[in-house]
Amino acid sequence: MLILPSANRVYAGASVELTAAELAVFSAAVLGGGLSEAKPTELGGVSYLAFESDPLTPRAAAFLANVSGCYALFEVSQGLLRPVEIPRLDRYDDDLITIQKYPGKTNEQFTKLLLNVTLMTSAFASEMLDRKLAVLDPLCGRGTTLNQALMYGYDAAGVDLDQKDYDAYTTFIKAWLKRKRIKHKTDYDGPVRREGKTVGRRLQVSVAASKDDYRTGQTQRLDVVCADTTRAREFFKPGSFDVVVTDAPYGVQHGSRSSATALARRPLALLAAAAPAWATLLRPGGAVGVAWNALVASRDATASVLADAGLEPVDSGPYRQFRHRVDQGITRDILVAGKP
Ligand SMILES: C[S@@+](CC[C@H](N)C(=O)[O-])C[C@H]1O[C@@H](n2cnc3c(N)ncnc32)[C@H](O)[C@@H]1O
Repeated sequence: MLILPSANRVYAGASVELTAAELAVFSAAVLGGGLSEAKPTELGGVSYLAFESDPLTPRAAAFLANVSGCYALFEVSQGLLRPVEIPRLDRYDDDLITIQKYPGKTNEQFTKLLLNVTLMTSAFASEMLDRKLAVLDPLCGRGTTLNQALMYGYDAAGVDLDQKDYDAYTTFIKAWLKRKRIKHKTDYDGPVRREGKTVGRRLQVSVAASKDDYRTGQTQRLDVVCADTTRAREFFKPGSFDVVVTDAPYGVQHGSRSSATALARRPLALLAAAAPAWATLLRPGGAVGVAWNALVASRDATASVLADAGLEPVDSGPYRQFRHRVDQGITRDILVAGKP
């Protein structure tokens, strides 16, 4: 596997280890454990990640095509590289994911890794290529996870308390859909009221990748709410998501952005307050994947918070290999937990 050149910049040297761990998770979940441990190797002066397996079926290659760090895949035979076809799920132009730039954005490649690893841990891993899954990011910021979910053809829902983030994302996505002439319909765009009081704002859009899909009702739903995530149950039905994927506040200031709440400066307290709601919104068999700053909350403490919400943290083998340095104040880690 040739790793995306941008990955080196994103992960400051950890891209090989992270991609190897992601491959191990894919192998266990959907490839029958058929890949050997991936190791860095050099061929003709270029770095690759090498692994052994039986000849890849087209379906196995289609899974590997979506590995976040995968740039190209080759079969090595008699010292020569033969390209393997990698049909990605991606159904929109990739500027959907790359245009928005702002302090505090979760890197898009890392977001894809987190979504993949969470999906692979859920009971629906084998359906990744076949079904329209439903993804919730309950701390969605300006929508990096939502855009990745749309890219895969899934339904995407998000919650964020920060009105500036909500406004920036909804403005972006409406303009983008229009400019790209993507068939869509706004189902709702306005305040959410409960008992005469405004408790948030909401944008609901149905989107289709082609006119035919739109005509035949094969639409994806984008649903974004501006509200406190601890109230997420008020906006969605229990059991309506296959995966919950989120990048928690880092407990440090991001450039000029102020934290939305006092809880945002205490990420563990925020997780503890919100995880029960998130767990309720998951279908049985679903999984939660959280990224957080391991310098402000330990892995054990984060796992306990998810376990207290009735989830089952997965903490073996490759799942312990996602920890990586982002900058001086942030060392990011991932924790995934399943809903029984
Ligand atoms: C690390 S950022 C997520 C960034 C996002 N993945 C992106 O790329 O734009 C964490 C987000 O949590 C939000 N947040 C903090 N406390 C919250 C709360 N109580 N309810 C909802 N959102 C909250 C912040 O506004 C911030 O956007």
